[in-house]
Amino acid sequence: MPHVSASPISVWRPTRTETFYLGAPHYPEHVDESYWERDAERMAAAGFNATRMGEFAWHIFEPREGQFDFALFDKAIEVLGRRGVKTILCTPTATPPRWLTANYPEVLRVDGNGRPASHGSRQHADTCSPVFRAHSKRITTAMAEHYKTNPFVIGWQTDNELNTTESRSYSSATLREFREFLQARYGSIEDLNRAWGGDFWATAYGDFDQVVLPFDQAPGFAGPGHVLDYHRFLAFATARFQADQVQILRAANPDWFVFHNLGRLDDIDLRGQFSRDLDFLGFDVYPLLYDEMQRMGGHAFAQAHYLDVARGFTGNFIVPEQQSGLGAQPGFSTLTPEPGEMRRMAMSSVARGADGLMFFRWRPAHFGAEIYWMGIIDHDDVPRRRFDEARQFASEINAIKDKILGTHVRMDVGIAGSDFDNQEAHRAYPMGLPSPEDDGLLLYRHCYRKGIACGFIHPEDDLSPLKILYVPHWLIWKPEWTARLDAFAQKGGTVILSARTATRDGNNHVIRETAPGFGLSALAGVTVEEFGRLAPADADELFPLGERRVGASRRPRLATESSRRRYTFTYENHEMTAGHLYELLKPAAGTEVIGAWSNRFASGVAAITARQVGEGTVIYVGTYLTADLVAHLAPGVLSRADVHPLLPDLPEGVEVTIRQAADRQLLFVLNTREQPIRVRGVPDGLDLLTGTPVESHAVHLGEYGCSIIQMRHAT
Ligand code: GAL
Repeated sequence: MPHVSASPISVWRPTRTETFYLGAPHYPEHVDESYWERDAERMAAAGFNATRMGEFAWHIFEPREGQFDFALFDKAIEVLGRRGVKTILCTPTATPPRWLTANYPEVLRVDGNGRPASHGSRQHADTCSPVFRAHSKRITTAMAEHYKTNPFVIGWQTDNELNTTESRSYSSATLREFREFLQARYGSIEDLNRAWGGDFWATAYGDFDQVVLPFDQAPGFAGPGHVLDYHRFLAFATARFQADQVQILRAANPDWFVFHNLGRLDDIDLRGQFSRDLDFLGFDVYPLLYDEMQRMGGHAFAQAHYLDVARGFTGNFIVPEQQSGLGAQPGFSTLTPEPGEMRRMAMSSVARGADGLMFFRWRPAHFGAEIYWMGIIDHDDVPRRRFDEARQFASEINAIKDKILGTHVRMDVGIAGSDFDNQEAHRAYPMGLPSPEDDGLLLYRHCYRKGIACGFIHPEDDLSPLKILYVPHWLIWKPEWTARLDAFAQKGGTVILSARTATRDGNNHVIRETAPGFGLSALAGVTVEEFGRLAPADADELFPLGERRVGASRRPRLATESSRRRYTFTYENHEMTAGHLYELLKPAAGTEVIGAWSNRFASGVAAITARQVGEGTVIYVGTYLTADLVAHLAPGVLSRADVHPLLPDLPEGVEVTIRQAADRQLLFVLNTREQPIRVRGVPDGLDLLTGTPVESHAVHLGEYGCSIIQMRHAT
């Protein structure tokens, strides 16, 4: 199998995996050998073709420095392999063994208060540390050499969810490496000082050796250029740490595929080197956890959003871990998927671009920090409903995998996403404002509920399949993106730009020209004459308390006149309260004002404009999205751009997506609820899961029921 996809990174890219990998991460080290044959039999009976192992077992592979012992995994891999279940191995660097952290304490991460991480959990080692990198290369080499001819080992996962527990480190190794990174980036200290704005608060340096790490509140705020470069450095160091391993694995056996399983997505540039080194990305899927942590308004929605964001980086992916049952660590727990729901959640992953899927995990642990992270088999070794659902899912997907593989997920509406610098520019200077992703979420939610094909895409990607592109206040802008948006509009696309877009350069400096910069003002036919901060449309606070300086706000907060101030605007005769920010716009000749501020001093000034560009339209929205604004703006803009729901009158709780290739379209209709439902307006086609044709333009979905319809006519 050829590796490292020749096609460029793109949201439209399928994975080119050899088959649809189905299985479960497995920890043979957690049970005695008497279980292994039975496990293998059961995995084979479930229709699994793959398992994943070893990510936390460095202490078993190398019990003492330089002494390797592969016996346990050799045997486990063979027992499974003989039953047709192949192994994806992991480099075990998320959990260095105690001898390593005891003998080389300098590899430990150090937090912002100078406290070194302790041995005893995971991701305690600093991926910036050259000493740790040397050990990572050693263990990777030993494993790669040992397994390079093993016929049952088919590919590798690097590490495990890099940066998910913690991405930052303030160790002395990090500092040294940061300085080197900056030296290579800027060449001279004068250039660094210019980039960081050294004349502000005397933050200029005389030499690279004087550069410090940007500590939070020590005692005030560090400069945004300094902070942005620190996060760029962390992303660089993470990619470098992984590259060491990938190089070793590829040299040992070029037939192996190599991927990483992403968790929190912090400080990893997923359109950069990190992903270019891999064959495809893996995204772990824990929807009940995301909903619990982030209050997303439902775990089905949380999963859809997460995976559409994820796909935006490099296209289709695999799911190395898909939540199967109750999940917990000591400090939190999740709800439990109901009967049928685990299969539906897995189908939702496929519907949004998964080309392989493993249920986390084969069996739950009996000890350690995740004793209640349930698996396919229960603690008492009895296969119950999760086993039955995994088997059903695997047999369904095995039957249609050739139709699924090679397709991409359709998107009519794209939300600009996957840009590391914009994400980090926001994080470095949030001011209590929503991030670009938070703002895009409002439009995304509207599309999700209406069944409109919507996802996330970078402006450097191929925009031609889209009808609409929304840019959620991307502060940092590159001039070449303007040309791409222009070309998209000329050919009939609708571009929607939101407030503050293109107001900073690559150094995170505010630009000197009138906003929006870099040619967007000419493209949109508008200039921003004034901007100011507002509270969210439905709250009084300009920023959450947690973002204020620690200790600065102990007294009770009294609502003040100014924090209750509301600015309103009208759009299509509907008056709305603006959220977060206002901009006063000046339209150029030929630009239409389609929304205007309607109270206080701004009354009558343009708030939203539209301009015809070639065959298309460029809309500029001089505020942030609110649910109200989306509800009023989206219907007209979408229908004028010829964007329609994939199914008319989609019932609440039903998800719909299309995966397509040149010769086929697969319509996924998935019931995220426990009530059976009849979905109407379904196009002609064959339901691939039941083998029956769609009758009377309707499908009946039972509790958490799923249909995958191969459509007869292209839409
Ligand atoms: C993932 C991680 C797994 C396991 C799982 C459940 O983030 O990769 O090792 O911890 O979550 O918590």
